[in-house]
Amino acid sequence: MNIKLETERLYLREFSIEDVQLLIDLNADEEVTRYTGDGPVKDLEEAKRILTDIIFPQYKNNIGRWAVHLKSSNEFIGWCGLKDIQEDNEVDLGYRFFKKHWGKGYATESAKAVLEYGVNKLKLKNIIARAAKENTASIHVIKKLGMTYLKDDICAHDPAEVYVYLTK
Ligand SMILES: CC(C)(COP(=O)(O)OP(=O)(O)OC[C@H]1O[C@@H](n2cnc3c(N)ncnc32)[C@H](O)[C@@H]1OP(=O)(O)O)[C@@H](O)C(=O)NCCC(=O)NCCS
Repeated sequence: MNIKLETERLYLREFSIEDVQLLIDLNADEEVTRYTGDGPVKDLEEAKRILTDIIFPQYKNNIGRWAVHLKSSNEFIGWCGLKDIQEDNEVDLGYRFFKKHWGKGYATESAKAVLEYGVNKLKLKNIIARAAKENTASIHVIKKLGMTYLKDDICAHDPAEVYVYLTK
């Protein structure tokens, strides 16, 4: 297992091809994907394609969406991480968790570690986060992380806000 980061309660690891079912399970709840622009993952083939075409290529730059697990039980609770959006010259911070794990501070805890890693280790300058205005929990997390409002935008057809992490 390729563990990338550890926090007090969590560890973050790279996804592997064995994780197809985890992606299907996570996206199966329409409340989880309500503001994310994607939806249910159809089948194992589609999950495999997401891993090989979207998630794994990011890992070569030492960034990516990482699987998040509870240290206490090893349970997979969702993902958190960075995505290089080359056409916009920005790196996007994102996160997604099973509903039963919402409201326990896991998004904030994992995203804080990811941000610190991006800034201090990778020396990234342009880390942004984008969330639908109605996704108040996500906007709240972004603000708790100390990110600064940059502009309004559209995210998956919904009015959204973009925040940036300003480094010194
Ligand atoms: C957004 C999401 C990642 C937040 O994860 P989480 O682990 O519950 O987040 P945290 O517990 O770290 O923090 C959530 C904060 O928002 C607050 N919050 C929760 N629901 C809220 C709501 N409807 N409105 C305003 N604030 C809300 C919580 O009280 C908490 O703040 P606090 O620590 O000051 O009390 C989670 O809801 C999720 O996975 N949603 C589905 C996927 C998604 O939308 N991803 C983001 C796409 S931009």
